[in-house]
Amino acid sequence: MIIRLLHAEDAQAYKKLRLSALQECPSAFSASYEDEVDLSIDEVAARIQPAADGSVYVLGVFHIDDLAGFVAIIHPPRAKLRHNVELAGMYVDPSCRRHGLGRGLLGAAIDHVRSIDGVRQIKLGVNATNMAAKTLYQSMGFERFGVEPDALNIDGRFYDEEHYMLRLNSGG
Ligand SMILES: CC(C)(COP(=O)(O)OP(=O)(O)OC[C@H]1O[C@@H](n2cnc3c(N)ncnc32)[C@H](O)[C@@H]1OP(=O)(O)O)[C@@H](O)C(=O)NCCC(=O)NCCS
Repeated sequence: MIIRLLHAEDAQAYKKLRLSALQECPSAFSASYEDEVDLSIDEVAARIQPAADGSVYVLGVFHIDDLAGFVAIIHPPRAKLRHNVELAGMYVDPSCRRHGLGRGLLGAAIDHVRSIDGVRQIKLGVNATNMAAKTLYQSMGFERFGVEPDALNIDGRFYDEEHYMLRLNSGG
């Protein structure tokens, strides 16, 4: 597998995979398919291109030559929050699951964050019903620190969101 930061030229492949993610797993994302289906390639390119201020990157994992998964790395620009990083929107194509791509992608994201000066902790949120993702995060050292009741409303069904954190300065 190849894991690297995505750039504007990956926008077409990213849009295709991102839209299938939103259709396949609506409960795993706060965005909906309808929110993103009409985005132009230029708008998608602007979203995935590493931000000039270092606040957002998207890491992609490739199976052979095809984009097979991604995760966003969000580093808040505000001084009081810069010791935190958030991971969001992690996804692996169903045809590639259970082959270590998710673990590889998460490990690469953690390594990338460790290389950013001053970051102490990585946070993420996950639907409380998402056993696959929760098992993966826990196996990589993330610990649950809270639950937000009814965080997501999908067609009248409410889902709790669990909040996880990996403390980088505690051997995690
Ligand atoms: C969660 C997800 C990214 C995992 O990707 P993956 O490539 O299948 O993960 P891996 O093959 O690297 O598995 C790593 C570990 O995660 C856990 N895991 C993965 N899928 C699992 C499943 N269906 N049930 C239980 N544990 C699972 C296991 O501990 C696994 O290790 P093992 O294979 O040694 O047992 C993938 O299932 C996915 O994209 N799901 C839909 C979107 C989603 O839920 N995103 C997360 C949003 S917070």
